[in-house]
Amino acid sequence: MSADMFHLAWFFSKGFGPKAWKHRWHGSDVARFTKPDTGVFLAQALERAGFDYFMIEDSSNVPYTYQGSHNAYLKHSVDTPKLDPTVLAPYLLQATKKLGIVVTCSTTEYQPFMLARLMNTLDHVGDGRIGWNVVTGSNDGGAQNYNRDKQWPHDERYDMADEFMEVCKGLWTGWDDDALVLDLEKGIFADGDKVHPIHHDGKYFKVRGPLSAPPSPQRTPVICQAGGSPRGHRFAGTHAETVITSANNPEDMKRQREAIRQSAVDAGRDPDNIKVLFLVSPVIDETMEMARMRYSASLEIDDNEVEYQLASLSRQSGIDFSQFALDEPLPAVLESNGHQSMVKKWEGKVLNDIIRGNPLNAGSNHFVGTADYVAAHMDEVMQEVRGDGFLFVNSYFSRRYVTEITDGLVPELQKRGLTRTAYEHDHFRDNLMAF
Ligand SMILES: Cc1cc2nc3c(=O)[nH]c(=O)nc-3n(C[C@H](O)[C@H](O)[C@H](O)COP(=O)(O)O)c2cc1C
Repeated sequence: MSADMFHLAWFFSKGFGPKAWKHRWHGSDVARFTKPDTGVFLAQALERAGFDYFMIEDSSNVPYTYQGSHNAYLKHSVDTPKLDPTVLAPYLLQATKKLGIVVTCSTTEYQPFMLARLMNTLDHVGDGRIGWNVVTGSNDGGAQNYNRDKQWPHDERYDMADEFMEVCKGLWTGWDDDALVLDLEKGIFADGDKVHPIHHDGKYFKVRGPLSAPPSPQRTPVICQAGGSPRGHRFAGTHAETVITSANNPEDMKRQREAIRQSAVDAGRDPDNIKVLFLVSPVIDETMEMARMRYSASLEIDDNEVEYQLASLSRQSGIDFSQFALDEPLPAVLESNGHQSMVKKWEGKVLNDIIRGNPLNAGSNHFVGTADYVAAHMDEVMQEVRGDGFLFVNSYFSRRYVTEITDGLVPELQKRGLTRTAYEHDHFRDNLMAF
């Protein structure tokens, strides 16, 4: 194994829902967005290329932040509709053997017992390959489907999530390794002395336990997290095993990685046990010129796309961006109870630049060129940042794009000894921690 090896994952943006709706190349998947086919295709391609994991994004409401109406969201399919990612996951697990599958579930929508039970079941049926992207919710519309008028305040959501994690961990560790006896001669199925209720009675949750099933192969799902605020980093330092984030350049990547690693140290953990993966959307083609042309074409967006992007920014921040002029700087301070780290990046910038400069939604680490060129560039960036890998995303998702990455770019990375050619282990966590 080379010291320079890094990890690969895929961010299934827009979750279990329509993908490249109305884009130049959408293939045949649009009409079948309620079926698992696209996900299965992606999962098999990722496993062929030795990816660590497939992360399914999620949110569970039809947003209405932009212009106070859900019309733009439904017209352009902005972050809606979405089906339940935890139902897609078993199809992906069954179609693969080694790939980790990460589902997004919110700590302000689930009850901890329900979530702990769900992850335990998925890890059992998936033979130790499940992960959980821990999110805390962001816009009020989401909260309104779960008994509240507004989201809890930003930092308090993370306090609740800490307690949520404590309950789940108690449930996942409540059965001793040898609690399941399965002794036909003595007639003992399980030993009650080795199964422990948790009797949790905290500020937000009350749970007796024990969990209703024995430990799963990994016992706990791999914990994935994306919060970039100081409170989000503290949460990641305490719980996360992989953090997904976007960064503008290698300097920014280094700074973020260091902050997350420091949070792990502050929480008394080994920072090497958190793999920080950075969003990227490489544009690969047969020649440098063709790739550059494709990239330039992706920057040309029409009015529909502008409205799409404004609606999306509004949902993520809880701020209605229809109130700002497109060609003037945004206020120097934007108050948000939503995704705070994203909003900080937009303050004082011109809306048009935010929308047009970032068509692929992956920061401004531009990897554009032939597969050979992009592989060398990724190597350079990882050498500079010193870890831990990349998370691919493309809001213009298509089967063609997937193949360009998994069967075009990745073989070039493998040739350089930068990514795995075979899985080291059977379980998701063991593969993630292998280097
Ligand atoms: C790559 C990436 C993926 C994310 N996926 C989701 C998601 O699926 N669902 C969700 O509600 N939030 C998602 N988020 C938002 C984060 O969970 C988090 O709420 C956000 O980064 C704001 O956190 P902060 O306020 O600590 O900065 C994602 C963020 C990033 C950077």
